[in-house]
Amino acid sequence: MKDSSKIGILGIGAYVPKRILTNNDLEELVDTSDEWIQTRTGIKQRRIADASEASSDLGAIAAKQALDDAKLNPEDIEAIVTATLSPDYISPATACLIQSKIGAHNAAAFDLGAGCSGFVYALTVAYGLVLAGFKKVLVVGTETTSRFVNWQDRSTCVLFGDGAGAVVVGEVKAGGILGWDIGADGTNFDVLKIPAGGSREPLSALNIHQQRQYIYMNGAEVFRFAVRVIPKTSQKALLNAQVQPDDIDWMIPHQANTRIINAAVESLGIAKESVVVNLDRYGNTSAASIPIAWVEGIEEGKIKRGHKLLLVGFGAGLTWGSMVLEY
Ligand code: UT7
Repeated sequence: MKDSSKIGILGIGAYVPKRILTNNDLEELVDTSDEWIQTRTGIKQRRIADASEASSDLGAIAAKQALDDAKLNPEDIEAIVTATLSPDYISPATACLIQSKIGAHNAAAFDLGAGCSGFVYALTVAYGLVLAGFKKVLVVGTETTSRFVNWQDRSTCVLFGDGAGAVVVGEVKAGGILGWDIGADGTNFDVLKIPAGGSREPLSALNIHQQRQYIYMNGAEVFRFAVRVIPKTSQKALLNAQVQPDDIDWMIPHQANTRIINAAVESLGIAKESVVVNLDRYGNTSAASIPIAWVEGIEEGKIKRGHKLLLVGFGAGLTWGSMVLEY
């Protein structure tokens, strides 16, 4: 890479499954109400993948769109980093399935597990790979959390949705990635996890009976953590980028809860009108939420090339990550 070169976004894409599950549909499944879900979370509906669709299928569609947007061929991609908490398999990596589906035969491929911060983590890794000499890196955030949600647990099943987003990272002439911050607090690994199915607690008839193969979350703990960490990590990324909050055209936060977004934005000093929010239509799509909101912002004519963006994620780990970039 030449010293004068910048590293940025060459193309972007997103895909959500067709099936819509509304809050009213959920009223039929668990003891909840449209009113509770909307006032406590801001969510009205979410998308659910068909039985035939796994995370790699959604991710491959988003990846193809990102390649088209970048006017690149699959063979141009030298690495695929996939962020997901709902992989097709524990092994191999979902990135390998995406590689095969899109025909990116020249790409190294691996997954990255950072929960809902995964997309920002993966962008940071892609930035490092390009610095290290990789020319074009594909980042995919893809989730079919509907497969890992306990549809009898009202405290989690109303929150999540399925979807995918992807970007191609490489050298750009101007702008690009200006600053970032990623971090983790593993002492709190326990507040958001899938207890069974790993080496700590392999699947058994007993733990399946106890429904421990599904997402467990202490929502209130995650809520407090998120409100605390979003301003903190955003400020660090802004400082690294030497960008003032006022100069941010669009903040794209992880879409988990409008109350979290509102509280965090207030203490950051970013105008509410500059925050992209679409979780009313998609719920929490975990590692896919930021690119889905980004693409929607572009399609709605809000986000344009040259705009300064602040991306912020938080989630299982507990992890956090933020990035300032000129799109
Ligand atoms: O992507 C990163 C990970 N996830 C998050 O960021 C989620 C962060 N947390 C949250 O968004 C919120 O904590 C929730 C939306 C999950 C919950 O909202 P809350 O205001 O923290 O509610 P709560 O958990 O304190 O529960 C309040 C009440 C409880 O009833 P009692 O004990 O007060 O009688 C719950 O049982 O609401 C009840 N409740 C529900 N009621 C109707 C919990 N879920 C539901 C539901 N419908 N779906």
